[in-house]
Amino acid sequence: MPNIQFDADGRLKHFIGIEGLPHHLLFKILDTAQTFINPVDHTIQKVPILRGKTVFNLFFEPSTRTRTTFELAAKRLSADVVNFNMESSSNKKGESLTDLLHNLEAMYADLFVVRHHQSGAAYFIAQHLSPQTRLINAGDGQHEHPTQAMLDMYTIRHYKHDFVPLKVAIVGDIFHSRVARSQIYALSTLGVAEIRVICPKTLSPVGIESMGVKRYHDLTAGLKNVDVVIMLRLQYERMTSALLPSECEYFRCYGLTHKALEHAAKDAIVMHPGPINRGVEIASSVVDSPRAVILQQVSFGIAVRMAVMAMILGLYEQ
Ligand code: NCD
Repeated sequence: MPNIQFDADGRLKHFIGIEGLPHHLLFKILDTAQTFINPVDHTIQKVPILRGKTVFNLFFEPSTRTRTTFELAAKRLSADVVNFNMESSSNKKGESLTDLLHNLEAMYADLFVVRHHQSGAAYFIAQHLSPQTRLINAGDGQHEHPTQAMLDMYTIRHYKHDFVPLKVAIVGDIFHSRVARSQIYALSTLGVAEIRVICPKTLSPVGIESMGVKRYHDLTAGLKNVDVVIMLRLQYERMTSALLPSECEYFRCYGLTHKALEHAAKDAIVMHPGPINRGVEIASSVVDSPRAVILQQVSFGIAVRMAVMAMILGLYEQ
């Protein structure tokens, strides 16, 4: 990707993908996010950083956590937020995407947060914006979901403090996962000791090893001594053919149970970007156990999205 993410002065302008972002910038996002969280009670105060700015949430695909936490993040920064429902827009009346965007820009949009089912949609939209408008990718097809990866990195740093000695396993539908791709770029830039992907052969992207990861098809072998286990959902909406015998069989081979978790390090944490499917990729008892930090990921997502918004609108140090 030619890096249209940066302006002529090398400052982050759009947030489209983690690929190609330097180590210091990823740390800056994590450190900035931390400044928004009260260390005593973990609450997030409202701050006037984006007062007078307008954020448009453009979601062309369903979302719960991501859309809501972006909205909350913008509100905590004192921006005005418009949640644009693409289902009821004149998009359905034949208007092109670029015409729609130019109309929204005419309403003084400063930032678009975009989720789209097509890989590359965020990049395409960013190229058609006027120079002062900013864009954050909230997930494009199977490409990247950079703010999810950053909130995951925040969570890992919160519980494990240092990235360098860590062994991290990403388990499940790697093939269809934009989250896994962004996580792999972030984890390798942050210098973790080992990144493993664990998946059935039918859900394994060709050439994944070239991203610097070790591939496993056996869950217990892949989990051996890992410090962080990241579970992923089966993304049926992106599957074009039957890739698995049954959910029952999938759970038997790849479902995370307490027994499977015994192979990981004693203090390993369990993460999941959500939505979770209990009894499909993860046992209900693991979700509800203290090993799981899944809800903490959601909470950290607000501060991380605040950090990215404040940084790309140029109102915070980079
Ligand atoms: C992920 C997504 O949309 O890519 N979820 C999320 O943003 N919290 C993962 C998924 O849908 O499985």
